[in-house]
Amino acid sequence: MKNKDVLNNQKVLLVYSGGLDTSICIPWMREELGYKEVITVTVDVGQEKSDIAQAEEKAKAMKTTHFTVDAKEEFIEKYCWPAVQANGDYQGYPMSTSIARPLIAAKAVEVAEKLGVNAFAHGCTGKGNDQYRIEFGIRSKMPNAVIHAPIREHNMTRSWEIEYAQKKGVPIQQSLNKIWSIDENLWGRSIEGGRLEEPDFAPPEEIFQWTKSIDNAAAKAETLTIRFKNGVPVALNDKASSPASLVMQLNTMAGNHGIGRIDVMEDRMMGLKVRENYECPASTVFLKAHKALENLVLTRDEIRFKALVDQEWSKLAYEGLWWDPYKDDLEAFIQSTQKRVTGDVSLRLYKGQVTVTGRTSTWALYSEDLASFDTTTFDQRESTGAVKNFGLQARMFGQLLKKHQKDL
Ligand code: ARG
Repeated sequence: MKNKDVLNNQKVLLVYSGGLDTSICIPWMREELGYKEVITVTVDVGQEKSDIAQAEEKAKAMKTTHFTVDAKEEFIEKYCWPAVQANGDYQGYPMSTSIARPLIAAKAVEVAEKLGVNAFAHGCTGKGNDQYRIEFGIRSKMPNAVIHAPIREHNMTRSWEIEYAQKKGVPIQQSLNKIWSIDENLWGRSIEGGRLEEPDFAPPEEIFQWTKSIDNAAAKAETLTIRFKNGVPVALNDKASSPASLVMQLNTMAGNHGIGRIDVMEDRMMGLKVRENYECPASTVFLKAHKALENLVLTRDEIRFKALVDQEWSKLAYEGLWWDPYKDDLEAFIQSTQKRVTGDVSLRLYKGQVTVTGRTSTWALYSEDLASFDTTTFDQRESTGAVKNFGLQARMFGQLLKKHQKDL
């Protein structure tokens, strides 16, 4: 290694999931790059407990210094709730994988800082979005970081990795049995790979773990009330609990009704179109309820302009530009609108569908007395003049056309 920082330190921090890509980085860091010590960090954002345990076991077997960081509450409060406030969505996907990456990067940097390490490694390929998100995240928090991406830098393929792992004694039995590439956290579960790479291959039932099929979904509809305070969920059916616990409860509840299966063609940052499947029960329901409440309390111009702001916010979130000042600018507007997004939304969960059935708020810009068919508080006669002059310029244009069409 030529880089002075690396030579001085001899330690590298690997952002570790326990999967094949990140596991082969362990011998690679030691043998190809000459690091004396590999530190592995797994950030718990709500992936399966067995995945966390597996990462710990593999780290132990491969003698790294291992850390598991529980970031579940922080993930929901600081990453998913802002996504709700921004109606966070990219091409129909609530961005569960996307918004977890900056947090994973930030936690890795926190550990590195404590240990005085400034060299990092990750297992992202050169085809995906995560390389952008992880590297931007690390460099935002530690500008002088040295970052290795062996899978990308050496154009590795899965079969090459398997062979290398077997040669180096990296435990990969679980990876060999895996057909699908899964990424999971409390906001959603992403499923890629295998035959899902064929865009016209119908997703087989076995890829789903959190959501029941329509056939097996609960036979009876369930009603649910979500309370929001400042655009953020605070209680389910009148019961307040912690952010992560609200999401976990709703994942179970909505999953039981088969809600939140998403199958899309997605445009990755590189320009690659890929076929993605997601299971996002809680996020689907929270996002729908939040929008319903905004529609009750925000003005029509706020709603129209906020849709543009939300879209800009979502693009930044998808790209992992979590610490871009543009995001702060957009959030200044978003936060200002969310002060009034407080109230209750009632929903019905049934056979793959979530339907809004009611909404209330002290900030509702709604008056039954004004809108009703049965009242005269809003004096219809006063509309006559406003209606008469509506579209004045367009009407004038129409008259001009009659006269001068031939000149155009
Ligand atoms: N395409 C999604 C994103 O970029 C999810 C990628 C999930 N990764 C996986 N291994 N399934 O946010």
